[in-house]
Amino acid sequence: MQKILPQTQREEPNGIEYEESVQLEAIDLIKSVIGSEYTKEEFALACEAIIASNEALKRERDYWNGINNQVKHYTPVEAWKEEIRNKFRSIPNLQTSEEWKSKVSEIMKYFIGEGTLDKNKGLLLIGEVGCGKTTIMNIFKHNPKNCYAVKSSREIASLYASEGHGVVSKYSKPLVQTFPEMFWGQTSLGLCLDDMGTESIKKNYGNGLNVVEELVLNWYDSRKFNMLHATTNLGYDDLKEAYGVRVVDRLTEMMNVIKFSAKETSKRK
Ligand SMILES: Nc1ncnc2c1ncn2[C@@H]1O[C@H](COP(=O)(O)OP(=O)(O)OP(=O)(O)O)[C@@H](O)[C@H]1O
Ligand SMILES: [Mg+2]
Repeated sequence: MQKILPQTQREEPNGIEYEESVQLEAIDLIKSVIGSEYTKEEFALACEAIIASNEALKRERDYWNGINNQVKHYTPVEAWKEEIRNKFRSIPNLQTSEEWKSKVSEIMKYFIGEGTLDKNKGLLLIGEVGCGKTTIMNIFKHNPKNCYAVKSSREIASLYASEGHGVVSKYSKPLVQTFPEMFWGQTSLGLCLDDMGTESIKKNYGNGLNVVEELVLNWYDSRKFNMLHATTNLGYDDLKEAYGVRVVDRLTEMMNVIKFSAKETSKRK
């Protein structure tokens, strides 16, 4: 077998043209495998192998560049919006009327400090039984501006009956939470009084109290209007009957009223 020396590699073995960089790589490769002497055939094979592997690397790079170009680079707020859309998409047999879409879109803008709703006020969702109010408030409770907990009014009233006045103090002010990094840096949570009007007056050791009414008045006094939200299927007249004019007056001062039309009927199966 005819051996050649490294200095002769710049010739073109077997008439194949190799780029100089490939030749230099081939020399290193051959040296690392068989030492400093090799045949033209070995040199040609090493060049072929290097060309093939470079092409494979290029194909891989092109492939990943293609994938990376498809991946959207979201800002945190865009990522949040996408997460909200996905939560809605995951509702089985999602129904979306034009009215529903425009209301949800306004609510989404509100929770990033945009749109026409007053950012210094909370939200009051009014609509027919089962039209989706609780679902909407649950989906938006983790948001960039004002995270909040959703608590059923009935549950709060029952807690009062069993645990007493501490429940009123607990839900009359922002709820402290200890993991701000999980809540867009927010150190306290607001509250959504869900299904207002479905609770009954509860007694704790003989003290009858409409807890929800008490909570609304306390939040009003603390002036943290944008941290209290509510949902109800009572109209204004029924709300007034349940809580009195004073409370309803305060509710509407504290909250952006979002009223779903009677056409938005129950989505319960
Ligand atoms: N847009 C929607 N499309 C399809 N189903 C929905 C939609 N929104 C909510 N739902 C489903 O409809 C049911 C009722 O929704 P939800 O409890 O949110 O209504 P609600 O208005 O709060 O009712 P209620 O007045 O009785 O409190 C739930 O099972 C929920 O998953
Ligand atoms: Mg509800």
